[in-house]
Amino acid sequence: MKIFLDTANLNSIKKFNDMGLLDGITTNPSLMSKEGGNPKDVMEEITKIIKGDVSLEVVSTEYSGMIDEGKRLCKYGDNVVVKVPMTPDGLKACKLLSSEGIPVNVTLIFSANQALLAAKSGAKYVSPFIGRLDDVGQDGIHLIKEIKEIFSNYDFETQILVASIRHPVHVVDAAKIGADVVTLPPAVLDKMLQHPLTKIGLENFLSDWEKLKAGNPNVKI
Ligand code: E4P
Repeated sequence: MKIFLDTANLNSIKKFNDMGLLDGITTNPSLMSKEGGNPKDVMEEITKIIKGDVSLEVVSTEYSGMIDEGKRLCKYGDNVVVKVPMTPDGLKACKLLSSEGIPVNVTLIFSANQALLAAKSGAKYVSPFIGRLDDVGQDGIHLIKEIKEIFSNYDFETQILVASIRHPVHVVDAAKIGADVVTLPPAVLDKMLQHPLTKIGLENFLSDWEKLKAGNPNVKI
């Protein structure tokens, strides 16, 4: 399963990329707005730091505007994936951009039917938002199971990019289903790295080592 970071924060991107954990990045207009500054510079910088796919989202809501913006976004780097919303115009733009070899991520997916239509429109990725479904009392992970089954039935190449992840249990559930990608807020990736028993275990190892050194000050590894 690939791990993308869901952020436009350059420090977080550099931090986790330096650890070798990142296969890509997803952004959206809200995440860009949170960082401030000139979005063009931020987007260019992200595509330089990351080798894998970087989803950059259009803000036009009609077809021709999406095509213009999508083509401009592609100029920020060779690894850009154009993100379009799950709307009739978005699907039309997905079809055209995909037919020209431009990879597309269809975002704001909340049903299996939407995912099916996006896959049929040639999307490289579909982004089902599981946390937002959980927020309204629906089962986000169940949606991933449905999409996985449908894509397997018809051998769609479209990848399931699980989005709107709120906690590490979502990641385990998505991995058990066999989702292709999870996109994680930096805080969730931080939590995945940690376990209290790891911390306690390391503290004990180091204090035992100090005891050994107390009896033999010249000991080294
Ligand atoms: C995905 O591409 C979206 O940027 C993101 O996962 C949305 O998450 P949110 O529901 O936490 O805003």
